[in-house]
Amino acid sequence: MKLFKTGILSCAAVAMIACSAVPAVFAKTVKVTMKAMENDVVIDNKGTKYPAWTYDGAIPGRVVRVTEGDIVDFTLNNPKTNKNSHSIDFHAAEVDVLNEFAAVKPGESKHFIFKARRAGVYMYHCGANPMVQHIARGMYGTIIVDPKRYSKAYPKPDREYVLIQSQYFPDAENYAAMLENKGWTNALINGKIFNYDPVHDPNATKVLMAKPGERVRIFFINANVNMPVAFHPIAGIWDRVYVNGSPKNVLYDVQTYGVPVAGASTFDIVSPADHATNNAIVDHTMSAALRGAITVLMNRPDADPKLGKGDNILLR
Ligand code: CU
Ligand code: CU
Repeated sequence: MKLFKTGILSCAAVAMIACSAVPAVFAKTVKVTMKAMENDVVIDNKGTKYPAWTYDGAIPGRVVRVTEGDIVDFTLNNPKTNKNSHSIDFHAAEVDVLNEFAAVKPGESKHFIFKARRAGVYMYHCGANPMVQHIARGMYGTIIVDPKRYSKAYPKPDREYVLIQSQYFPDAENYAAMLENKGWTNALINGKIFNYDPVHDPNATKVLMAKPGERVRIFFINANVNMPVAFHPIAGIWDRVYVNGSPKNVLYDVQTYGVPVAGASTFDIVSPADHATNNAIVDHTMSAALRGAITVLMNRPDADPKLGKGDNILLR
């Protein structure tokens, strides 16, 4: 009798927990198709061209954004007009390196699915031989795996931006030098030197924008081939750093946070609400900052309402 009662009680308790835990967001399947391309891209604000290797023609590749629990249904096409094999390695995928991530020859394609099980911000990149060259030439991007819901620990931001840093090696063929970390002349942010910094490059036309007091969330990916990044907001302090972008890994009040090669983290900054300010978001490693890794964030009341929202989180 006692056992029976306990049984009924636990069933009711389980039912209640199950009901309250039903997520508002249901897992979905997200189809993503990319094309490996060997094409010239512009790598600075004055129009210098570089013989890149890309996903869909641009450095970095598109932002893939899914919700924790979603299935990613992915296809990579490598047209027969390309000279090289290419591949994709999603850091958000838990699969078989020898199968899903295998190189795809020109004229072939690769299809696979994976479940994005862990919320965070992740790099994706080409892993075909020699990997150092495929990354240095531009085959990388980010996949953001949003948690199922916002929370006190991970509040909804007012604006979001993606920043991906990489090293620029003008001699695109010399992968032996890339391995030795020799010959890189500049740092790229989202594929361009001083992409969002009109202070250091008068040809720059874009900056990040927010209104004073807004919570700005930056998804930062280190796509360098050899160098860690010391990520710092000049004239500000990171309100929160989510290590690897996971809401479970939160740090508060951080001046500079290290992001390893092929790592990523999410950074929240909240500027003073009572007056306009500017931040310069840098890799405080001087050899990178002064060669291109500076991004201006303007906090002003007339900030463009479209920037840092929807499809405008990676500014091209
Ligand atoms: Cu490649
Ligand atoms: Cu990797």
